[in-house]
Amino acid sequence: MTKTNSKQWGDKSRFYIPNEDARTVRAALNLLDASPRRPVFVGGSGMVLLDALSELPRLEEIAFVDISEFQVAYFKSLLLALKGCSTPSALTGWFSEIIYPQLHYHFSKGRGHEYPLEGVLQALKELFHIRFFFEEEPLDGIKPLLGRIRVHEQDIAAFLTEPARDYDFAYLSNVPDYLPQERLPDLFAACRLRGAPVYLLLTEACPDAGKVRAAWERVGYREHPATGDLTEQNSGLGAFNLKRVWNRRGRVVLLMPC
Ligand SMILES: C[S@@+](CC[C@H](N)C(=O)[O-])C[C@H]1O[C@@H](n2cnc3c(N)ncnc32)[C@H](O)[C@@H]1O
Repeated sequence: MTKTNSKQWGDKSRFYIPNEDARTVRAALNLLDASPRRPVFVGGSGMVLLDALSELPRLEEIAFVDISEFQVAYFKSLLLALKGCSTPSALTGWFSEIIYPQLHYHFSKGRGHEYPLEGVLQALKELFHIRFFFEEEPLDGIKPLLGRIRVHEQDIAAFLTEPARDYDFAYLSNVPDYLPQERLPDLFAACRLRGAPVYLLLTEACPDAGKVRAAWERVGYREHPATGDLTEQNSGLGAFNLKRVWNRRGRVVLLMPC
């Protein structure tokens, strides 16, 4: 079986903040019949996962999974910062002083894009709807749950298909855009076996969206009827009218076992 590794994804991609709309993910979690106890999230910055914690009242354990060594280390440093910061302004201060210079260097030197700090914080708040940087209640809500987070440096498809894994929700972001398509049937079958709803983004970067759809349909998933509403409210990656160099137009897909 072909494995995805961080080289295929692109070693040069670094997620210091998400490019996804956490509010849409929260809305999707609230549509589920049962609140997940053991959700799995593909990582990136990990901020979407952290922001979702408040929507998981029955949480036992939450898995952060990323194949990138950098993202795993970054997420661990974010967890430490969360433990150490008692207010949103302290957390924003940490981000501005420690993380932003790295982000700036990465994007300006490596990619020729300039992102001023104010613009980054504005996007974090208004496009990606990450609340714990700006509001006390979400930050206070996250802190007691930090001990339930498990961090895995692993390929998400490999993680989900390991027979011993116990999970009841899978957040794939736009990984299905890039995952070698022959790996999709096993991935969806593993999620379906556990009865886990799946959240994903399917964008114009996907070489064959029909094949991805066929793979989930074959194992018994259907799209949640509110999938169109989720797509309409999405203000991050996949949004139809969002003009940013990193955006790819597409749609949000929330899959329910039939
Ligand atoms: C798909 S997005 C997730 C963005 C994320 N939601 C956030 O809040 O930043 C990018 C991340 O997915 C990771 N990734 C891509 N393909 C993967 C795979 N097959 N398994 C695990 N992680 C993967 C990349 O390393 C990158 O960190």
